Amino acid sequence: MRTQRLFPASGAFLNERKRNPMTPRQGLHLLPFGATQPRQSEPVKTSLGAFQRWSPFGVNLWQTLKNPTKLWATGAASLHSAQGAAVGPAPTITFDPANQVFKLQSGTMSYFLHVNPEGDLEGLHWGKPVDTVHPELLKSTPGLDRSWQPALDLTAREFPDMGRGDTKTPAVKITAAQGQSSSQFKYVGHEIRPGLPALKNLPQFHEAETVGNACKTLIVRMRDDVTKVDAELTYSVLPEFNAVIRGTQLINRGSEPVQIEKLASFSTDFPPEDYRLLTLSGTWIREAQEETVPLKPGKLTIASNRGFSSHAHNPFITLLRPDATEDHGDAYGVALVYSGSFSAEVEQNVQQHTRLTMGLNPDCFSWRLQPGERFETPLALGVYSDQGLNGLSRQFHSVFRKHLVRKGWADKTPPVLLNTWEAVYFNVNHPEAIEIAKKAKALGVELLVVDDGWFGVKYPRNNDQAGLGDWVENPDKLPGGLQALGKAVNGLGLKFGIWVEPEMVNPNSELYEQHPDWVLHQPGRARTQQRNQLVLDLGRTEVQDHLIQSMSRLFDAGHIQYVKWDLNRLMTEVGSAALPPRQQKEAEHRYMLGIYRVLKVLTEKYPDILFEGCASGGGRFDAGMLPYFSQSWASDNTDAASRLAIQSGFARAYPIKGIGAHVSDVPNHQVGRTTSLKFRFHTAMSANLGLELDPRKMTPDETAFAKAQIALYKTIRPIVQDGHYRVLRPSKTNNWPAWMFSRPDGSEAVVFAFQKQAEPGLQIPMLKLAGLEEGALYSVSGLEKPVSGAYLMHVGLRPAFEGDYDSALLQLKRLKN
Ligand code: DGJ
Repeated sequence: MRTQRLFPASGAFLNERKRNPMTPRQGLHLLPFGATQPRQSEPVKTSLGAFQRWSPFGVNLWQTLKNPTKLWATGAASLHSAQGAAVGPAPTITFDPANQVFKLQSGTMSYFLHVNPEGDLEGLHWGKPVDTVHPELLKSTPGLDRSWQPALDLTAREFPDMGRGDTKTPAVKITAAQGQSSSQFKYVGHEIRPGLPALKNLPQFHEAETVGNACKTLIVRMRDDVTKVDAELTYSVLPEFNAVIRGTQLINRGSEPVQIEKLASFSTDFPPEDYRLLTLSGTWIREAQEETVPLKPGKLTIASNRGFSSHAHNPFITLLRPDATEDHGDAYGVALVYSGSFSAEVEQNVQQHTRLTMGLNPDCFSWRLQPGERFETPLALGVYSDQGLNGLSRQFHSVFRKHLVRKGWADKTPPVLLNTWEAVYFNVNHPEAIEIAKKAKALGVELLVVDDGWFGVKYPRNNDQAGLGDWVENPDKLPGGLQALGKAVNGLGLKFGIWVEPEMVNPNSELYEQHPDWVLHQPGRARTQQRNQLVLDLGRTEVQDHLIQSMSRLFDAGHIQYVKWDLNRLMTEVGSAALPPRQQKEAEHRYMLGIYRVLKVLTEKYPDILFEGCASGGGRFDAGMLPYFSQSWASDNTDAASRLAIQSGFARAYPIKGIGAHVSDVPNHQVGRTTSLKFRFHTAMSANLGLELDPRKMTPDETAFAKAQIALYKTIRPIVQDGHYRVLRPSKTNNWPAWMFSRPDGSEAVVFAFQKQAEPGLQIPMLKLAGLEEGALYSVSGLEKPVSGAYLMHVGLRPAFEGDYDSALLQLKRLKN
């Protein structure tokens, strides 16, 4: 059988292979193929027969559905951007008073709510667009209604309260001044407003410039008559997207304080089904590992009690219906817009009624609400897709980019950076930084980042035992300060950036000498150190102001175009010297409000500085940081093989452009593995490419190869970073993971394919692409003949891998007809 080789090996690459015989060969093999016909898409057929048979509404309903009134999607007005291009249907929210039904319609999604006769708010439907749902049809079967089970347990509730027979996890738990914690929140009214809710102190979504003030928000007011506490549940819909943004606020309208013990941002009940739950779990140097489990009766909790969202569980979860795959079927994702301790609970009872609740972690939170006060939860984003996990990811990426990522940054091109950490660790100094910068510039790098080690005068930062908190340049390492180094680096034609970890302090520091009470601590208890450091009490305004001032002093000196904002430990002994005993449990959430204030002030004050988030790698890679950090360092593990799972895990929710990925030296500093430079580049190029090695130590062949790859990346960067992302084969379950990026119109695409282990005697499966135009012809890098989109998507290509950790990069371009 004749095979045609794809992607001919480059000179630099062959040299590398000579030097390192373990370096796998480049390329893909394409099986012989003939002419193919584009497949016609099937017309959609619907059948209402089954519905008619069991509908208690009989013929009337059947007639209504047979001649449905116009579905909202077809009738909805289109919005227009400033340029006049249609950008998607306007979202609508309507209230049907006769049936007490709220209809939220957006993108290709309906989210319906119902105020039942008891005043409870029920969820009727979240999924594909419909124009009507009849609450009566959703009632549980008669046998169950007569059972011993409390009726509330079988009701699909949107704001489940406590203590009256709903035995699943509550969304709200308040303790009245008299000590009781039952509640009954009943509907008292609602409002439908243009725009998005404005939170006082927490990260929020913004209207996209292209669509103006087109978002809509429903506020449902509920009241607990005994405590006189009001709840406001907000539901916002956005143009184009299958998304609902939710949040909860409590207002104490009584005359006595109440204690909030739990208040979820998002809670909804799903109809009985065999769901699977996908989460991103891990630990340091092993972030965002996809875990999928079938639900069973019982409660599954994904949480952080560490004071930051943490490596252990990401605040993003996905519920999959049985038929959901990478590209098809119903998937529901929820992401919490918060970076502190959180909890996501998924509970199923024996009838498979399934509740999903997400918000602040009640184990780490309690809040005293005085009469007249209001408490707001973080927001949470819920997304629905009928196009499986890939459809869900695309929705999340787009919503985040358009409505949450720091304003103005989602469309900027992030520079290819070189970070000094794995090159010199703490031994950074002016002359060596310049040497590194010169080599980096020759490779095509666009930004030099001086990582840890550049600061500390009385307590020099020569290792992790001293200096944190003292944000003044070390005169021995940087005699001219950051200003002189930044100026020199800029003079070489590179941007310049620094590492900081402002939220922390080493006991060996001038800051701690001056303000030992500025750290989180509890009287009488030892202050647990981790990485020799303590956590500053950011709930205190004076500590926030100190951070703003010390960072401003650095940024004002000029020549800083980038900041890597790190955080390297969890919270322990959480308590604040500034709070009375009754409010000590507020310290953790007050810290979060404080860090958000600091980040808001600094990112607004320095609009041209690119901020990258980091928390010992990807420990605070969450939606809450997107309004401030347009990118995040995904892991301290720079081993390309480990990175496949880590990066593709984060990519389930977060935009590709925001996933920091660096090529580093071998043997890898974290896992000791040696992989080829090609494999390392391909892994990093499928996210936001950077380097983290000493370019002075590279051989001429490596230098040439790296230079060529960086140049190539710059040409594909717009497609990788701004295109549609699709997992073709997931890393978690596949030895040959692959993903592709394509322009939304299918005109261009880039495919990355990998082999983890060589598998003797096994046939590498054909790789079927997606998102192309079936009837169009594509040029494929390394192939002489053009190939049809239909062939590429339905027959596929067979990558030609050799040895462990091999990879291939393919570029596709649609040819003009
Ligand atoms: C942890 C980060 O994740 C690393 O990249 C590096 O910046 C170190 N901190 C520096 O201490």
